[in-house]
Parts: sequence; structure tokens; C-alpha cells
Amino acid sequence: MTGVAAPTQVVLVVDFGAQYAQLIARRVRELNVYSEIVPPDISAAEVELRRPAAIILSGGPASVHVEGAPRLDPAIYGLGIPLLGICYGSQLIAQQLGGEVGRNARGEYGRTTLTWTDASTSLGVGVDSAPSSIVWMSHFDAVTVVPDGFRATASTANSPVAVLESDQRRIWGVQFHPEVVHTDGGTALLGRFLHELAGCEPTWNMESIIGSSVDAIVSQVGPGRAICGLSGGVDSAVAAALVHRAIGHRLTCVYVDTGLMRRGESEQVVDTFQRHQGIELIHVRAGDRFFDRLRGVVDPEEKRKAIGEVFIRVFEEASGGLTDADFLVQGTLYPDVIESGTNTAAKIKSHHNVGGLPDDLQFKLIEPLRNLFKDEVRKVGSELGLPDEIVWRQPFPGPGLGVRIIGEVTPEKVAVLQHADSIVRDEIEDAGLAREIWQAFAVLADIKSVGVMGDERTYAHPIIIRAVTSDDAMTADWARLPYELLERMSNRIINEVEGINRVAYDITSKPPGTIEWE
Ligand code: XMP
Repeated sequence: MTGVAAPTQVVLVVDFGAQYAQLIARRVRELNVYSEIVPPDISAAEVELRRPAAIILSGGPASVHVEGAPRLDPAIYGLGIPLLGICYGSQLIAQQLGGEVGRNARGEYGRTTLTWTDASTSLGVGVDSAPSSIVWMSHFDAVTVVPDGFRATASTANSPVAVLESDQRRIWGVQFHPEVVHTDGGTALLGRFLHELAGCEPTWNMESIIGSSVDAIVSQVGPGRAICGLSGGVDSAVAAALVHRAIGHRLTCVYVDTGLMRRGESEQVVDTFQRHQGIELIHVRAGDRFFDRLRGVVDPEEKRKAIGEVFIRVFEEASGGLTDADFLVQGTLYPDVIESGTNTAAKIKSHHNVGGLPDDLQFKLIEPLRNLFKDEVRKVGSELGLPDEIVWRQPFPGPGLGVRIIGEVTPEKVAVLQHADSIVRDEIEDAGLAREIWQAFAVLADIKSVGVMGDERTYAHPIIIRAVTSDDAMTADWARLPYELLERMSNRIINEVEGINRVAYDITSKPPGTIEWE
């Protein structure tokens, strides 16, 4: 147990490799039912052990006709657990239970008109009063013959069986994607399946998430003590606030101020946690040590390594005094757990973050966010009274401004960059774009160019503005910011930030670029 909420009812989403599985799981939770993603090779015995309230089969890129395409353990269909197949999942139901799936000459992609053809539908009840509606399709194969005991209740131009149903077997299938926003009544259909047909109670809400997390943490920690490293980001902040709600002053947070944070960030962390939340906080001002170590370091990888090493040393020294603490709080989220492919491994997040701690630290882990998606984490944070600035904070690299200063990092350069960066972020905020844009920040380049200000010739550094849109940071596109906004940023940076005489906008997507410059 790692201090996570354990709801009594779970819906299992079987992931057939579509990008939609996480979206389905999130939609189910938005309908106040707890969901978890499981791999397609889950056995009927494992399913029985988990006793899910319902099962949803996701879509997937494979064709059911291809050898080696993922299948469901056929015994699962006989367990009597309400089951909904989506797209590939629906075709699999048809194929595995004795119906037929045809290979279409043409696929159906995007908006399609769905017509309900059978008034006896139980899935379509209350979903849409009109006989037809717009649904979102993305498929090539299509069910042509339903298995015995099933009936077809809706069709589209290229899907004679767009919906198949068996009330008796409690199995339903839809060719379209009810989880995407473009499908009219998609949420209502999922709700109909979950709440009415499967009888799931809508009990997964903020109150129950916080309540059951707190109970789980209390029982895991017992009379023990815990420490938590705060990075300034939303995940560690919410994890700390939850654990504090559970064990109060037996939690101590450590905030390492690397001197490489954005303007005002350290003050805000201290203010929020110490003053408002009343959490015991060790605030280590370690900027000098980082700058000492970074003297003369220009290679990006070496820089990251140097920052990481100093961070670990400082954190260990700060937490070393807390000899009676036996738990370490980590802000691991559910998507990290899904990606690492296991639900059980208790591994300290080791990605390239300076917050990544070595695994020889002798702590047991508390990971209260292990079951939560980012949007749920934000809601929990707001509910626990964290300010919007923290709850909606954009991702920030562990090595901080160190990887946004090209070349050697010095306190003077950090001060220049902090100033320019605060202008970029303020202007984005004022333009109302902060939540649309994945990250927006300034980079200080290690070159100089000639300019003229007043009657004076200048020879100074440029600031590069980077603003990207993205869903997950794996790929990103440069944000099409309005010219007027870019102009305001440029004017303010040149006029207000000393030592800068030029502003450029980075119009590189990822790939081929990365979001950060180093
Ligand atoms: P790149 O530059 O690789 O960044 O496109 C992808 C995302 O990761 C963030 N990033 C980091 N996050 N520790 C972190 O926690 C790091 O060392 C680190 N480096 C990059 C980056 O801001 C972007 O969101």
C-alpha cells in the first residue's frame, strides 16, 4: 500500500493500444466512477479477483483479422460483468462471440451520421431524442453480422452494425467513439452504460478522493513521520497537502531553493506552505552552492548532471537531520504508472529531474496521487486550498533556469532571465492564454548582437521567447501567438530588462526541436 485511495467500485478499461484508453478512463471518472486501465492479456481469473463493476474494451489500431491481434480472454464474456466494447472492442465482441466483421472497401473517419434503427435499444435510451446524431468514427473494419442473442440497434453509411446489444448477456458494443467530445451525446451514452445498465454508483468525487486518500495515508504511516521534497510544481505540492491533511505536523517538507527558480517562485512556495497551509518547511537557500558548482560549465549534459548532484547532496543534508522520518512522499501520477507498465512497482521516479532522488535513500514511499490523472490532481489541490498559481503551474524542468541559459550560468544571467521570463509569463496571463499554452518562457542566449537605443550603439544578448502547445510534451507545436502580444513582450523586454537589445520568437516544433533549449 502506498497511501492511495481505494474505492470500492472499479471499472476496468482494457487497453487495446489506442490513444483513447486514457481518455475513456478519464471520462468514466468524470462520470464519478473510478476506473483503471488494464492490459489486453488480463485473464478471466484476474478479472474475477478484481470484481469490477463493469468492463470497457477500448479501440485499437489492429484489425481483428490480423494474426496476433490482441484478443480478450473469451471466458471474460461469460462472467456476467457488464461490458461495453468501443470500436475495435466492439468488433472483437462480434468476432469472439460468433458474429462477423467485414473488411470494408472504405474506412470511416471523423464526423458521421448515426441512425438509431431499433426502438428497443437499451444503450441509446435518453442519449439523444433525435433518430440520428453525429458521432466520431475512426475505423476500417466493421461488424456485419451480430452474434446470436444480439441485435443491431443503430447504423451509419459504412457500418450496418454501429451499435450491438445483448441485454441478457449484459454486453454492448459501439463502433464510434463516445469518449471524444465531437460525438453528440457521447458522455450521456457512457453514463447510461455505467449508471443504468451496469448499476455503478456515482461516488468518485473530490470528497471521496480526499477522504479515502487521507484514510489510506493514515493507515500506511501509522504513528510514523514523513518528509516531502517540494519542487514548486503542482504534483509535489498536492501530494504534500494531502499527506499534511492526514498526518499534520508529522510531515516535514524540504524545499531546495537552487537559485535557478523563476521570479517569485520560492517566496510563493514558502508563503503557501508555511504560512497558509501551516506545514513544517525546511527552506534551504542553496543558490551559492549551485552557482559555485556551475562555474565554467557550458555543456548541457554536464550542466544537468552538476545541478542534479548538488541537489541530491543538499537534499540529503537537509533531510539527514530528520532521523526519525521513515516515509518519503512522491508525487507520482497515474499516467506515470501506466507508462511504467506496472501497478505494483514502488520505484522512485528517476527521470531526468533534479528532484529525482537516488534509490538508496532508506525511506518507504507514500504516493498518494498514484491513482489520479492530472486534472484530478488539480481539482484536489484547489479543494485543499492551494492557490491557482501552484495548481495551474506550467511544467518546469528540474534543473530550472539553468537549462534556459545557454552557456555558463551565473547569478547575473539568472537575474536577467528571471526578469524577461516574468514579462513573458505576465503577458501570456494577461492575454488569457495561460491555460491554453503548455509552456511559455524566455531563454537567454550566449551570443551578442549590435543594436541602437537612443543614439547609442548597443552590443548585448538576445532573449528568445519560446511558447508551445502540447498534450503531453512528447510532441509540441510552437504557439501561434498574436503579433500584438509578441510586440508587447518584445517592447517590454527591451525597455525593462537591462542587458537585452533584441528579442526573437522560436518557431520550431518538437520534433525536430525539443521544448527546452538544453
Ligand atoms: P524537452 O525539452 O525534452 O522537454 O522537449 C519535455 C518536457 O520535459 C520538461 N523537462 C524536464 N522536466 N526535469 C523535469 O522534471 C527535467 O530535467 C526536464 N527537462 C525538460 C520540459 O520543460 C518539457 O515540459
